[in-house]
Amino acid sequence: MSLSLKRLHHTSGIVLASFLLLHIGNHLFALGGPQWHITVMNILRHIYRFWLVELVLLFCVGFQVVSGVSFVVRKGFVRQPFYVVVQVLSGLYLSFFMIYHVQAVLRGRLQWKMNTDFYFAAGVANHYPEKLFFIPYYTLSLVAVFAHIAAAHYIKRMEQRPDQHLLRRYKNETLGICLVGSVVTFLIMIAFTGVLYKI
Ligand code: HEM
Ligand code: HEM
Repeated sequence: MSLSLKRLHHTSGIVLASFLLLHIGNHLFALGGPQWHITVMNILRHIYRFWLVELVLLFCVGFQVVSGVSFVVRKGFVRQPFYVVVQVLSGLYLSFFMIYHVQAVLRGRLQWKMNTDFYFAAGVANHYPEKLFFIPYYTLSLVAVFAHIAAAHYIKRMEQRPDQHLLRRYKNETLGICLVGSVVTFLIMIAFTGVLYKI
């Protein structure tokens, strides 16, 4: 596998992860109600909707999918260690999710002239029968992000060939990322699915 492609996937992943820090952080504000979420999103839009930032972001989404899928095709995931399987499956789900999600958001905004705010996402997560698809769809997107990052972190650490003592520490760090991911996913999903307040 080309080392430079892997390095580029890493760099583009850091750009995306920086956006996700803001994006997922924004979704956590939904715990305080739709107005909190909308207020924070209106502030963050000044950053990620600036044309150059958005162009780079959309490029990174496309690049991440193409480079990630090419790793999977070359490497495969049959008879690989568990963490590689997690990395590949979470990456494949992210490929599907990012393409579907970004085209929905862009079509909503540019073609249907909608405000793609809290209600754009929460609407489909509360309305039957669409919610049967959209609740697992959003839940898995968050699970996949944290699982992918946890697997990348673990593999990177293992490449350093740690001794027994460090190995336990690296496993704990990886489990820590998974634990934070589970709590964040739970909190965002209860806010978006009407468990905390009527939507
Ligand atoms: C939110 C988007 C994504 C982020 C933040 C991300 C981040 C990363 C990072 C940091 C690595 C470790 C690279 C290294 O070792 O230096 C990695 C590896 C990998 N990613 Fe992604 N990635 C994303 C999306 C995807 C997608 C859509 C796929 C598609 C299948 C994918 C498939 C893979 C694979 C297979 C590897 C392992 C490469 C190897 O070690 O052979 N990733 N990713
Ligand atoms: C519960 C999970 C999620 C929800 C409810 C959600 C919701 C939204 C909403 C409402 C927008 C429109 C933002 C705006 O109009 O300013 C958006 C944009 C976007 N989301 Fe998500 N999202 C979720 C997870 C993710 C994940 C996991 C990723 C990436 C892996 C992602 C990537 C993006 C991108 C790239 C945009 C486009 C930003 C832009 O250029 O305007 N989202 N999302």
